Amino acid sequence: MIVGSVSENKNFEKRISITPDIAKKYINLGFEVQLSTNYGKHLGFEEKEYKELGVKFINDDNKIIENADIIIQMNLLDEEKTSFLKSNQIFIGVLNPYENKNKLNELVKKKVNLFSLELLPRITRAQSMDILSSQANLAGYKAVVESFSIFEKAIPMMMTAAGTIPAAKVLVVGAGVAGLQAIATAKRMGAIVFATDVRIASKEQVESLGGKFLTVEESESLETEGGYAKEASDDFKKKQEELLSETLKKIDIVICTALIPGKKAPLIINEKMLENMQPGSIIYDLAAVQGGNVAFTEVDKVIEKNGVKIMGERNILNKLPTSSSSLYAKNVFNFVSNLYDKENKKININLEDEIIAKTIIK
Ligand code: NAI
Repeated sequence: MIVGSVSENKNFEKRISITPDIAKKYINLGFEVQLSTNYGKHLGFEEKEYKELGVKFINDDNKIIENADIIIQMNLLDEEKTSFLKSNQIFIGVLNPYENKNKLNELVKKKVNLFSLELLPRITRAQSMDILSSQANLAGYKAVVESFSIFEKAIPMMMTAAGTIPAAKVLVVGAGVAGLQAIATAKRMGAIVFATDVRIASKEQVESLGGKFLTVEESESLETEGGYAKEASDDFKKKQEELLSETLKKIDIVICTALIPGKKAPLIINEKMLENMQPGSIIYDLAAVQGGNVAFTEVDKVIEKNGVKIMGERNILNKLPTSSSSLYAKNVFNFVSNLYDKENKKININLEDEIIAKTIIK
């Protein structure tokens, strides 16, 4: 059985799906691994390192796609490469099924077995495969680092002979995986951290990290059975706006992470609320690609409004591609191991397995 992966378009994607450590694991499981020339070179993984483990490099991506039983990528392939996919092959990635519906339908018609890892159920058995968590965790960390680096004041409180610098105050909107890591990172750097979420269950998690949870008065928890957020009512939004408008007067840095699966990101910080913020404040909007939690967010730009800098990127993980590749590659390997029947040495698409049934595109 051949596992293949071809280079992504590095203008948009610096992460890779098979690191040398993970190539070794596939080979130990009995797979042959085929990769594009210079596959991991931009991350410091030279061909020599892979070749010593038995990986084959092929100078023609279309050949790799034709040869492989399982193709592992971050994103969907471009049109030309996609045309080389054939029936019974397995294609695993983050396929963004809401946006790529038509392309994916074509491949399903061709009988390519597509698995989209952002659809993994949030169950204990799937934790080691959970790409949403592994990537969101790093994104939350990096959003804090990025915003702190352009903030023109110090973060921790400093008492010096020349006077005292107060600690920066950070607000995290949305305390899911990214938000919780943002809280932890900001705390480690010495900031005072506040956080809010529509899911009351996150209150305890915020507090365990040393953050102060801001509860929207009289709100019921807006949580689905799967643990995700529901869309807030107009009444909730109004109360949340009142609470955050007051809070923003004293906040230096806001990290926004609020998302509702499959929907446009909720607009949480509007133009009026921005006027409450002090000049020099920073907002990092991790929801930028899904439309943003902040009025004026523009992908890959720093927008200045009343002296407040608002930033958000298409792919913040491109700023720590080595760490994010290492976790992604491990997540996918765990997913493939679950698909692989080790005794009979074949792939077993067992639709009674919730992990497989929920991720396969039908
Ligand atoms: P996400 O990335 O989909 O959303 C981010 C956060 O934004 C969520 O906490 C959500 O409640 C919040 N949010 C949405 N709308 C909001 C609004 N209007 N105002 C304020 N906050 C808002 O979330 P993520 O990080 O993927 O986590 C979703 C759920 O999955 C959580 O319940 C989490 O505990 C759970 N989870 C379970 C795992 C497991 O058991 N394997 C692993 C990771 C997460």
